[in-house]
Amino acid sequence: MRMKNKTVIVTGGASGFGEGMIRRFAEEGANTVIADINDNAGEALAREISGKGTPCVYTHCDVTDSGYFQNLVTSTVDQFSTIDVMINNAGMPQTNQPMLDVDEDTFQRIFDVNVKSIFLATRAVVPVMREQGSGSIINTASTAALRPRPGLVWYNASKGAVTTMTKAMAVELAPDQIRVNALCPVAGETPMLGAFMGGEITNEMRSAFVSTVPMGRLSTPLDMANAALFFASDESTFITGVCMEVDGGRCI
Ligand SMILES: NC(=O)c1ccc[n+]([C@@H]2O[C@H](COP(=O)([O-])OP(=O)(O)OC[C@H]3O[C@@H](n4cnc5c(N)ncnc54)[C@H](O)[C@@H]3O)[C@@H](O)[C@H]2O)c1
Repeated sequence: MRMKNKTVIVTGGASGFGEGMIRRFAEEGANTVIADINDNAGEALAREISGKGTPCVYTHCDVTDSGYFQNLVTSTVDQFSTIDVMINNAGMPQTNQPMLDVDEDTFQRIFDVNVKSIFLATRAVVPVMREQGSGSIINTASTAALRPRPGLVWYNASKGAVTTMTKAMAVELAPDQIRVNALCPVAGETPMLGAFMGGEITNEMRSAFVSTVPMGRLSTPLDMANAALFFASDESTFITGVCMEVDGGRCI
């Protein structure tokens, strides 16, 4: 059990990559906190996991709102005493379309959910981690930050902000023994995939995309969960500021 007695918060933990992380961390003995706005899915997942004997709670948290983060941190510390790992994973896609077709409200929402959320999470959780003298923050970025492609301009830019924040946070928080790393997944098998592909995913679209991934498949929630587990665990205690591709070689 690599995460026994550790407490892990995952934003966007009710679906896709975040759900995979919650399941994998629970298998490794962690206390898990699902922070999401999808109450039905979050509550059902928390019931399922805690029913198997590992504490798991759901907390409604809109990551664009600082009040929810304060509540999330306070309730987590009240229940579990520490916050060892904060995974900023909730995200919003841009529907694949030309950059001039994206309206201002959509642009703002993409940056609020993907970028401002990390600012708000950091302000809430870092004081707790400083007090503890340790912590691991993991941000879900994307290959979109490292190798931006057409049709996703503003989403690409938001994930570029995530990788820059990750490195900048890592240097500033290093003296506190708080590590900050990011995951950069290639397109993954989650409900978000359709938006990136511009709607319904046909077999032709899938095959065309997969052919650009040297290892010949899309990413999965388990790929992301295993990578997050490495950044969260004591196996990576001297690793900070790394934005790691989880992409089967796509960015090479
Ligand atoms: N799926 C992909 O192809 C892919 C590729 C690269 C990066 N990503 C990134 O991975 C992360 C997870 O995405 P996913 O693919 O698992 O998608 P998903 O749609 O399965 O899950 C996203 C989760 O975020 C939650 N969420 C959305 N807005 C929120 C808000 N304001 N507050 C709290 N929770 C909110 C949703 O309710 C959902 O549970 C995102 O940051 C996404 O940008 C996804």
